[in-house]
Amino acid sequence: MAMIAYKCPQYRVTIVDINHKRIAEWNSGKLPVYEPGLDEIVKSVKGKNLFFSTEIEKGIKDSDIIFVSVNTPTKSFGVGAGMAADLQYWEKTARQILQNAESPKIIVEKSTLPVKTALAMERILTSNNSRIHFDVLSNPEFLAEGTAIQDLENPDRVLIGSNQTENGLKARDVLVEIYKNWVPSDRIITSDIWSSELSKLVANAFLSQRISSINSISALCEKTDADITTVARAVGFDSRIGNKYLNASVGFGGSCFKKDILNLVYLCLHYGLHEVADYWEGVVKINKYQMERFVLNMLTSMFNTLTGKKISLFGFAFKANTGDTRESPAIFIAKRLVEEKAELVITDPEALQNARIDLKNIDGKVSFIEDPYDAAAGCHAIALVTEWDLYKNLDFEKIYRSMIKPAFIFDGRNILDHNRLFEIGFNIYPIGKPALTHFE
Ligand code: UGA
Repeated sequence: MAMIAYKCPQYRVTIVDINHKRIAEWNSGKLPVYEPGLDEIVKSVKGKNLFFSTEIEKGIKDSDIIFVSVNTPTKSFGVGAGMAADLQYWEKTARQILQNAESPKIIVEKSTLPVKTALAMERILTSNNSRIHFDVLSNPEFLAEGTAIQDLENPDRVLIGSNQTENGLKARDVLVEIYKNWVPSDRIITSDIWSSELSKLVANAFLSQRISSINSISALCEKTDADITTVARAVGFDSRIGNKYLNASVGFGGSCFKKDILNLVYLCLHYGLHEVADYWEGVVKINKYQMERFVLNMLTSMFNTLTGKKISLFGFAFKANTGDTRESPAIFIAKRLVEEKAELVITDPEALQNARIDLKNIDGKVSFIEDPYDAAAGCHAIALVTEWDLYKNLDFEKIYRSMIKPAFIFDGRNILDHNRLFEIGFNIYPIGKPALTHFE
């Protein structure tokens, strides 16, 4: 919404939320999320045509277009628990719009939702024969965290789904006009609503499938002394395959991939497509396997016991350039290492606050230190979990001197200079490459 306000001074954008603390943070000098470039954009439009407020009813009354971006977490109870999307916030919002609207509105589905949710929204909005006309559009968001501003300024595509009726198409054109302020027309794709909703889930499923594919092959590389970076490069050179999203890692995280795939799986099961559901569930299974493998590799390499050993996790965010830790592989790894009775020192330039919350109930020794040198000092091993650039340029000789020997580095992102670290004296365990060790 900040980008819309920034690119379209002729529109007035108001963000409303029930969370007073959040809104106060957005209104303060320090934004509640870390996202490179966002600060500048928000500052340049806040108070001009971008406003943050908790007055939801007023927001509904005053607006012609409402983007609904409420959260749709995985359901934790009842039918579909652990898989289906929890749509309670979405439905509450629909009812609230219905109660408060006094003029026709375009409702834009921005949250990622299972197919046919817009239909449910439409049914609620037309339920008490209200004289007010509502049009529901689907406009999924494809930005990735950490590169959100770039992705929004220069999107591969903007997708808008609408009813193929006269009113539906009119509403669609209103939204197209907004994006046309900065997105070239040939990148604005329009479709029916259901295809638009499904495309969002499928795009995330395909991206995560690529990561699980390369991660599954990383396991084979480790057994056969092949090098995953070489394999990924050779495969990615095929223009039909492409080279993006082929970085082997400790596993994918984030609030979307797992949730969206499980949603897709649930949908397939609902329609009796068991083979299709199994196929996509495999992506999530491999991801868990990859995280588990990382921990097991640490255990076996460090002489089959981690009890009492001090291990520093370099990075806790689910990826670099964000403070977000939702579904971060670091959470899984930290918990598993503590089960093995290791002592953890966690460092991350942006995510320590969230890390503290994620691990608050953990039963073990965990500390949080911002400075990576202090975090590594006195440790037996470093496990690099997030690919922050700053970790590439650390003084590893200094770090080596401060650690207990033999010193281990498990590079869960393959971003370090393994040969150099080996020469310094470390035992190095990358992902999908032969380990470099000083043992016989
Ligand atoms: C993802 C999609 O990339 C966006 O297009 C989508 O809009 C978004 O989900 C969403 O649905 O909201 P995001 O979760 O922010 O974006 O992050 P990604 O950059 O896709 O990374 C996801 C995870 O995959 C991270 O843990 C990352 O480290 C990992 N990853 C990514 C790899 O392990 N290897 C790769 O080659 C690429």
